[in-house]
Amino acid sequence: MSKGLAQQGREQWKSRTGFMLAAMGSAIGLGNIWKFPYITGEYGGAAFIIVYLICIALIGIPIMLAEFAIGRNTQKDAVGSFQELTPGKPWFITGIFGVISAFLILSFYGVVAGWALSYTTKAMSGDLLAIPPDKLGDHFGGFIGTSLGPILWQLLFMAIVIVIVVKGIKEGIEKWNKILMPALGVLLLILVVRGLTLPGSSEGVAFLFSPDFSALTGEAILVALGHAFFSLSLGMGTMITYGSYVPKNINLPTAATGVSLADTGFALVAGLAIFPALFAFGMDPGAGPGLIFITLPAVFDLMPFGQFFSVLFFLLISVAALTSAISILEVPVAYFMRKFEWTRKKATWILGTIIFLFGIPSSLSLGAWSGFTIFGKGFFDAVDFLASYILLPLGGLLTALFVGWAIGKKKAEEIGGLAAGGFVNKLWIVTLRFIAPVLILIVLLSSTGLLDVILKAIGLKG
Ligand code: PFF
Repeated sequence: MSKGLAQQGREQWKSRTGFMLAAMGSAIGLGNIWKFPYITGEYGGAAFIIVYLICIALIGIPIMLAEFAIGRNTQKDAVGSFQELTPGKPWFITGIFGVISAFLILSFYGVVAGWALSYTTKAMSGDLLAIPPDKLGDHFGGFIGTSLGPILWQLLFMAIVIVIVVKGIKEGIEKWNKILMPALGVLLLILVVRGLTLPGSSEGVAFLFSPDFSALTGEAILVALGHAFFSLSLGMGTMITYGSYVPKNINLPTAATGVSLADTGFALVAGLAIFPALFAFGMDPGAGPGLIFITLPAVFDLMPFGQFFSVLFFLLISVAALTSAISILEVPVAYFMRKFEWTRKKATWILGTIIFLFGIPSSLSLGAWSGFTIFGKGFFDAVDFLASYILLPLGGLLTALFVGWAIGKKKAEEIGGLAAGGFVNKLWIVTLRFIAPVLILIVLLSSTGLLDVILKAIGLKG
């Protein structure tokens, strides 16, 4: 099929708002409401947030623009876009990594999203708040360690994701994001007002906004950068794929900035909904991954109308996870549709099912299969580590180098949609050429333990 014909039938977003909401829906997810609060709590609050904001501005926004630009320019999926811009060169491997990351991330993302769905129903029935606060930890551990229950919730979640993606860009992804994203905003707003009006909440606000730089460790900086990637959905071709459905008349720099700001704003406001309430009831903000499943239900228990707010909260997480999961599934779906000429229906059902099946060992590794480890990690943690801390940064690094160096300066300056020859355009290219690659490389080396080896070898570390 000639290029023209192949693209004729390709889907596009119906409106600019639809595209923006879908990209925001991708970025805003478990990363914002589950992970951001607990890592902020673990790494000391405001000082961590400042470093995170710097990472978003310095690396996040430029790479998001790079991904949108690659996608929009080629109108191709995560693999095809690299092939089109550098034919015959091995850069398309970046896209292959992206497709693999999508498989891995969605497999365990679906597991956590399943927990959120289950907790929503537990909150609705009143069962959740009936659990004594000191038993909430055991309850959560017992639930995720059960074999069948969590897998059925994961199955339900993945089925919803599949049903939406099967409908396509306009009628599925765009339509549902247009409904779910405003709903998400409203839910969050209600929860913030609740958190902030509790007596004693100001301590939580201070925790978020008055920095204590002594709490800032080297590890905290690395976690901040890694999380910026995960939270903005970068490094695995999601924004390339979404960018490939963007019509020519949309301004990409504004879109990249807007989506990044919305994602960051959402994480901060989610923090404002959670920390004041935690402090108001004297709970520990550094409780780790169980924070929202163990500590928060105890908070809801003590709060007037706690059941109502607990339902809203777990609904918020489920919806946020859904709009992100949709964007992750679309990466392999778009690739298989082009590469193997599968219909959208076939690609979505087959790939969605395989990803669900691949998530089962992740779920089981928290219970029945906990004895099975890979490099000392359970299956869930091993997949999360490989995807989030190795493949995503690697994908981001290669994407930056690709636009910064591989496609030629002229092409790079042209596809981002920034003013030709302007300062911002030059700054963008310099960031992609040098700043982002160096910073990402440091994170990558440190998360694989190679940084220690190198520092010791050159005598900078004992
Ligand atoms: N950004 C999503 C979140 O914060 O939960 C997760 C995610 C989506 C990561 C898409 C990567 C991705 F490509």
